[in-house]
Amino acid sequence: MFADVTRQSGDGRWAMQPWAAVVAIVVGLGAGCASSDPGVNGLASAKAAIGTLKMQLKQKLQMAMAEGPDKALEVCAVEAQAIRAKVSHESGVALGRSSLRPRTPADAAPDWVKAWLDEQGERKVAGVVGFSRVDETPSGKVARVLEPIGIEKGCLGCHGPADAITPGVRDLLAKRYPTDAAIGYAEGDLRGAFWAELPIR
Ligand code: HEC
Repeated sequence: MFADVTRQSGDGRWAMQPWAAVVAIVVGLGAGCASSDPGVNGLASAKAAIGTLKMQLKQKLQMAMAEGPDKALEVCAVEAQAIRAKVSHESGVALGRSSLRPRTPADAAPDWVKAWLDEQGERKVAGVVGFSRVDETPSGKVARVLEPIGIEKGCLGCHGPADAITPGVRDLLAKRYPTDAAIGYAEGDLRGAFWAELPIR
């Protein structure tokens, strides 16, 4: 029953189904902060882990961009996977970022994320909603959260059209990411998704 409790629109706002608010209040009253429903707790942990990953990547990128796009690219190249591994280790949640046009094979999508990406296709992020649901899998129940990622102005220097990318960044991309498919985006495009999952026990 907790499948699809929340849906996130592409512009980052959460919209709750009206009935979900009632469920949340009842659950909250019944069990204090932590729910007694492992599905609800699993979804909350998955969502929180995405929030942490998002925040840490953003902080790192902002700090690095202050030193120019070449330096920022080096930092992303070295740190993005390390941050992801650390957040995953600390939260116990498997998580990542994936795209139909990946920069690195390290960001390959799990099947359930790939299915969502294929369903969306190449499009604008406006109106795209993520999900928060419990799936039955052959190895048991799994809490899964997915949040769409859109391209903003600040992304164009590393993911935009050729004329938005400096020669220095272009060289680094060619060197670091021989299979890079993550350029040529415009502001407002759907870039991919944050995803997180953990088994429910
Ligand atoms: C300074 C350059 C730079 C900027 C600016 C930048 N990115 Fe990236 N992005 C990268 C690099 C490098 C990677 C690959 C990191 C790795 O090796 O794990 C990446 C990977 C990603 C991925 C993971 C999927 C994939 O293709 O591997 C997503 C999603 C993404 N970026 C979205 C964004 C968004 C959205 C913005 C703007 C808010 C942004 N990026 C800004 C350099 C950048």
